[in-house]
Order: sequence, then structure tokens, then C-alpha cells
Amino acid sequence: MSTTPLWHKEGTTIDEAAMAFMSKDDVFLDRHLFRYDIRATEAHVRGLGRIDLMEDADVERVAEALHDLDARFQSGAFVLDDRFEDGHSAIEADLTEHLGELGKRIHLGRSRNDQVAVALRLFMLDHLREVRTLATDAQQTAEYLAKTHAGTPMPGYTHLQRAMPSSVDLWMGSFAEGFRDVAHLAKLTGEWIDSSPLGTAAGYGVPLPLDREGVAQELGFDRVQENPMQVQAARGRYEFQVLSVGWQALQEVRRLAWDLVLFSTQEFAFVTLGPGHRTGSSIMPNKHNPDMAELLRGQHAIVGGAMAELMQVIALPSGYQRDLQLTKSALIRGTLATVDGLRQIPNVLAEMTLNTEAMAEAIEPAMHMTEKAVQLAAEGMSFREAYRVAAGTSTETSLRNQ
Ligand code: ARG
Repeated sequence: MSTTPLWHKEGTTIDEAAMAFMSKDDVFLDRHLFRYDIRATEAHVRGLGRIDLMEDADVERVAEALHDLDARFQSGAFVLDDRFEDGHSAIEADLTEHLGELGKRIHLGRSRNDQVAVALRLFMLDHLREVRTLATDAQQTAEYLAKTHAGTPMPGYTHLQRAMPSSVDLWMGSFAEGFRDVAHLAKLTGEWIDSSPLGTAAGYGVPLPLDREGVAQELGFDRVQENPMQVQAARGRYEFQVLSVGWQALQEVRRLAWDLVLFSTQEFAFVTLGPGHRTGSSIMPNKHNPDMAELLRGQHAIVGGAMAELMQVIALPSGYQRDLQLTKSALIRGTLATVDGLRQIPNVLAEMTLNTEAMAEAIEPAMHMTEKAVQLAAEGMSFREAYRVAAGTSTETSLRNQ
């Protein structure tokens, strides 16, 4: 770290090795949060302006410098790296470099504890919006396939044994409905976490009449999260719930991927993945491997692992604890795996070809027995008797009953 930490006091020494351990990849993870942190910083100084703790002209100067930092960060002219303890320190350092004394005044009424909370909250809300969009895209592609294959016969399996005649539209329709549920859950979860933690400072508020409502509104939050201790208590828990949306999304992805791996084997040969979604073998010239489907299946493990990690970290007492920093990597890793996986689905579905002949051929006559039994029972026979008639064992049964 080449800059001095915000909390450094003269006469005290900084242990670089200890600092490196405490920061580790944290400042790099802050790259995912940096633009949200900048946005929330602007909202915070505008709030200070409204309660006359910063002059209007100064508020505008800070806002302009923040926009400039945001632009430099996006273009790569400003690199967030381990020169800084974290993204929060980087913002203050950059503002101080460009605005002098004014840069040092922006931290009035806030702490890095509510600063990181607000950046994470905005990150999670954006992520949930993205999940909603991607799940809806996947839903629409599955719906389209269901429509174009309406009535196309396909065997239905239970226990992976041939069970009943089914159809491609039923198969694809199940994913359409699954992804619609995921989009719905993303919306509900977004509503659940849509509150502003900014203004709660280190976890105990500050003796200032901060305009928390106005700041929340400016950042697009639905409401203010009232209790400052609960803001810290929610850290990691909200992350867990957000990852559980990914868990649900990837559960559908995993089921689809599993089906595609299975149905693209030579034994089934119902599906051929698009040429761009198959790979070859470095040794066996005959191979076409479903790597895309297999890695889609594996995304779920990343999210599941991240959720397990979160659960371990958040076993904490009241108040901010530095352990909470460790929730960040789990959140970011899990959210990336979620969107990475979901994003592939429309293409994978659109590029695959279905061998409808092989599907129809796999429906053997015995698979119609259930249908027959149900029909006979509907016509008046007891279902148990109809079951036996359909199975061709009713004589034996009636003999035994005599
Ligand atoms: N990197 C820290 C985190 O994610 C930022 C907050 C630091 N606060 C503190 N009191 N040391 O939790």
C-alpha cells in the first residue's frame, strides 16, 4: 500500500505485512463496488448540503470531481489497486488530491461501515435486476421452443426409466415456467433488500440531522433501513438471500444441462448441441463433448460453495466485525457464476438441434399402458382393475380372487 490509511495517526507505525493480510484481495473486489460507492458518495454530500453542512458550491465541486473519477475509472485512467487500503480510501484520496481540503470533508457523517453496506446494497439490487432480465430471456427462448415444437412426441422418464409419452413442449415448457419463477423470486428479493443503509455510520448513527430519506430517494431506494445496528446485522444475510436466487436460477440451469448431457449421448441421441457448444478431444478424434452443458451444470457448485462460506462467516455478535469483509468475495463470486450461467441459456437452446425421429421411436407401446388404464377407469372400471387390464395381467388377478 503506497497511500496512508485513512485512520493513520501520527507517531504510529504501519505494519505492511499485516496490512497486506488484512486487505488481501479486498481492494480488488472493490472494483465491482467502486462505481456504486462513488454514486453513494455524491448522494451523501448532497445530503450534507441539504442540512447546511456543506456549501452548495462545494457540493457541486465534489459531485463534478466524483463524475470525473467515475469516468477515469471506466476508461482505465484511474486504476483501483493495492496502493489503497480499499475503494473507500481511494475515493477520499482522489478527491483530496483534486479538491484539497474539501476532499477531506466528505466523510462527515458516515463511516466505511455504512459506505460498504450501501455500495453492496446497490450492487445486489443491480444484480437482481440483471438476473430478472436474463431469466426472462431464458424463459422466452424455452417458450419459443415449446411453441415451435407443440405436440412433438418425446418419451417421459421417471427414475430415468421410460415412463409415459410426453412432448417437447412439456419439456421446454417446464424450463419456461422455472425461469419465470426465478425472475419472480429475483423481483421479490429485490423488494426485500431495497432499503438504504447510508447514514447509519459505524452502526450507531451520528449526532447529526442527516437527511437519510432524501439520500435514499436520490439513490433510488424504496425506503430507509432504520436501525443502524440492524444494518450491520443484515450484512451477509442479504448477500445470502441474493445468492439463493442464483442458487434457484442455477438449479434450473443444472437440470437443463443434465438433460442435455444425457440426451446428447449416442445412447439417447435426442439432442445435438450447437457446434459452438461442443468440443473435441485432444486424443480421440471421434469425440464430440458437451463441455458447455457440463460447465453450466457446474456453476451451481460455485454458488452453493459461496453460500456455505457466507453461512460460516456471519456467525457473529452485534455490531460491525471485520470478518464481514469476507462476505464480499463469496457474494461477488456467486453473483458472477449466476449471470455467467444464465446468460448462456438462450444460445444453448437456440443452437441445439432436436432429433424428433429418435424421440418418437423411443416411445415404446408399453408406455401407453397408463393412458389405457386411466381411460378404462374413467369409463367405470375401478382403477386397480383397469391397471391390471392395461398391464395384461387381469385374468391372473381375477383367478387369484376367486
Ligand atoms: N473492507 C471493509 C469491509 O468490507 C470496509 C469496512 C471497514 N471498516 C472498518 N471498520 N475497518 O468490511
